[in-house]
This record gives sequence, structure tokens and C-alpha cells, in this order.
Amino acid sequence: MIKKLQTEFGISQAVTIAPGINGLPKVVLAHESGSRAEVYLHAGHVTSWTNAKGDELLFLSREALFAPGKEIRGGIPVCFPQFSDQGPLPPHGFARNSEWHLVKTEVLGTGKVAARLQLTESEDSLAIWPHKFALVLGVLLDMNALTISTQVVNTGADSFQFQTALHTYFRVADIHRTSVRGLEGVSFIDAVREYRRDVETGPSIRFSEETDRIYVDAPDSLRLDDEGNGRSIVIQKRDMPDVVVWNPWIEKSHRMSYLGDEEYLRIVCVETGRIVSPCELSPRDQWQGETTFSC
Ligand code: BG6
Repeated sequence: MIKKLQTEFGISQAVTIAPGINGLPKVVLAHESGSRAEVYLHAGHVTSWTNAKGDELLFLSREALFAPGKEIRGGIPVCFPQFSDQGPLPPHGFARNSEWHLVKTEVLGTGKVAARLQLTESEDSLAIWPHKFALVLGVLLDMNALTISTQVVNTGADSFQFQTALHTYFRVADIHRTSVRGLEGVSFIDAVREYRRDVETGPSIRFSEETDRIYVDAPDSLRLDDEGNGRSIVIQKRDMPDVVVWNPWIEKSHRMSYLGDEEYLRIVCVETGRIVSPCELSPRDQWQGETTFSC
């Protein structure tokens, strides 16, 4: 299967389809500047992004499991059609446990390298969520930027509602020296304080305990300062109104699967999505959102 994918989608010096961990097919995008991204067809999952300087920007747990039907701890899981445990489906929906298809690769005139993956309904998804859909993930690699777009199309005969998010795990040197900027004055739902509503008062969010907040209708431009690595990542989103800021801290890390006890020190998740007001799609309607990370 991997050979066939390489013949169909491989592009000399830009796109390679190779066996990844446990032999799962992975798409490796390489930009002429030296930046790279790796995307697994399992879970439609970006597991690595390195910029032109060779810095890895995404966290991947040393305990991450790469196996059909299981979610990968780290990288960029795609939450769909449910966010977290906000509905009857498995947490964060089924897209992050499903097998996706590669539908297109290309090098654009600007030199950016692109891959497009797609997930559609299956017997398993219809059994728990009776809707026909196409979820398309676009991955676009530039010298110092990675753009992820998600598009949802209703291909069935009835309307449906969904939530979606890019659950991005950034790799930081030290969570104590990490901050997220750009959310001052934004109202949030605090999942560690009985889902109380509050308003962010300071210019930057710092971490000293479990943090799990959904910022409602957040500004489209945010910044993650990773002081330990002396770098900042700019997060620019479009049509993804909400932002989740998450770190499990000590006790939750101990309870969580596929995460080492000390790994919370090296993670911050800044998730962009459509969460608080689910999107409703009529038959043949579509929705698209996009997030660009630059570093
Ligand atoms: C975050 C949620 O998006 O994902 C947290 O806000 C949750 O509440 C976290 O713990 C991780 O979820 P999971 O299902 O991957 O362990």
C-alpha cells in the first residue's frame, strides 16, 4: 500500500510516503528551505513540524501509541464531530481514531508543499453518528509556517451539527517559562472550576496548575512565548472562533493514558476550533476553518 501511495502521490524532493512508527503510512513534506512536516494517515494526524532552522515545534509523547483505532498523544489531533466529552460520542469524536485517505499532494508556485487528506463516513462512524460527511484536512508547509485547514461537507440528505478543533500540542522547554498572549478581556469557560464563566484579566496566561479553559470568540491572532527555547510561535486563525488552553499538570498527567508523568512540563496545548456554538450544516453545505502557525 505504501509503495502504491508513493507512486501516486510522491513528488521528488518534496513529498515522500514512507512507513512510519509500527509501519503506519506517513506523508513527509519537505520544503526547499529545510522545513518539514510529517502526517500520518492514521488519525489524519500531523505528528511533527520542524522549521527551516530545524527546530521541532510539536510535542509527541514518548508513550504515544501508534495503532489502528487508538488516538496519538501529541502532534495535532483533529477533534470531530464532538469536542471533549461534550456529547454522547467518545471524547473528541472519532476522527482522531480513524483511518484517513490521502487525496492530493502538490508543490505550489510559491514553493509551499501541500497535502490533502480526507475522512468520510464508515460503517463504524454511522453506527455512532448517523450522518454522511467529508472531512478534509489541508496541510500546507512553508519556510517558517504550517497552515492546517479543515473543511466539513454535508454529503448526506439530513442536516447535522458538529464541533471541531485542532488539538495542537506545542513542545516547550519548560511550562513554568511559557505564556500565551492575546486573550486579555476574553470570556472563558473554566473546566477545572466547574465550568464557571470568567474573563481573562491579564495580557498573558502563565501556568502553575492544571489549566483547561475554553476562550469564547477569541481574537484571531495569538502568541505562544516559549522562553526556555527563546522562541515564539504566532497562531493565526480564521473561522475558528474558540481557543482552548490546556495543560494537565501533575495529577491529571498521572491518570492520563499515553503520557509520561513528567511530560506535562514540556507541553502546552493551544487549540483552535468551533466549540461553543456547534456548526449546523444542511445537505450539500460546507464549512471551512484554518489555522496558521509561524515560527
Ligand atoms: C482538552 C480538554 O481539549 O483535551 C481536556 O479541554 C482534556 O479536558 C484534553 O483532558 C485531553 O483529552 P484526551 O481525550 O486526549 O485525553
